[in-house]
Amino acid sequence: MNYTLIIHNVLRWAVLIFGVWAVVSALGAVLSKRSYSSRDNKTSLFFMISCDIQLLLGLILYFTGMWFENMKTNTGAVMKDAAERFFAVEHALMMIIAWLLVHVGRSMVKRADTDAQKHKRTLIYFGIALLIILAMIPWPFRQTGIARQLFPQF
Ligand code: HEM
Repeated sequence: MNYTLIIHNVLRWAVLIFGVWAVVSALGAVLSKRSYSSRDNKTSLFFMISCDIQLLLGLILYFTGMWFENMKTNTGAVMKDAAERFFAVEHALMMIIAWLLVHVGRSMVKRADTDAQKHKRTLIYFGIALLIILAMIPWPFRQTGIARQLFPQF
């Protein structure tokens, strides 16, 4: 049983819950013009931490599985196979970009001068990161080879 894969599967729900929570509350805050509170900071922190753990687990899966090995030895074949390419290139690369956006977003929020600017920056950076994450999850409706279960199977 691959425990890293099981945790990586389940933790996607934490990433999605905190991500949607942060984006929806930033949208509400922009519309209602409310101030930036310590609760906003906490939600954003939880989103970042769940993304950090997910990145770490993803890197472990990437380098301990055959994904990286196959890329090195058989780049051409990996690139031609949609499922291999998805995990070896698209999923890994785009999720790292999303993770970067979350980190850059949090530091941009810290540097913002006004509360309105903090909410707007949260909305933009986290919103784009969340869209990338949603697009790059191997949902069950994706094609065979890419599709994975919503929850781990025992
Ligand atoms: C927010 C970020 C991420 C989310 C939400 C996410 C989500 C997922 C999900 C739901 C799966 C399917 C798990 C299963 O088969 O039960 C998966 C598989 C995988 N992920 Fe991620 N992932 C993220 C980031 C990353 C990163 C940054 C990497 C690599 C650098 C990565 C590498 C992988 C690999 C290699 C697999 C396939 C594992 C295998 O079957 O051997 N993931 N990911």
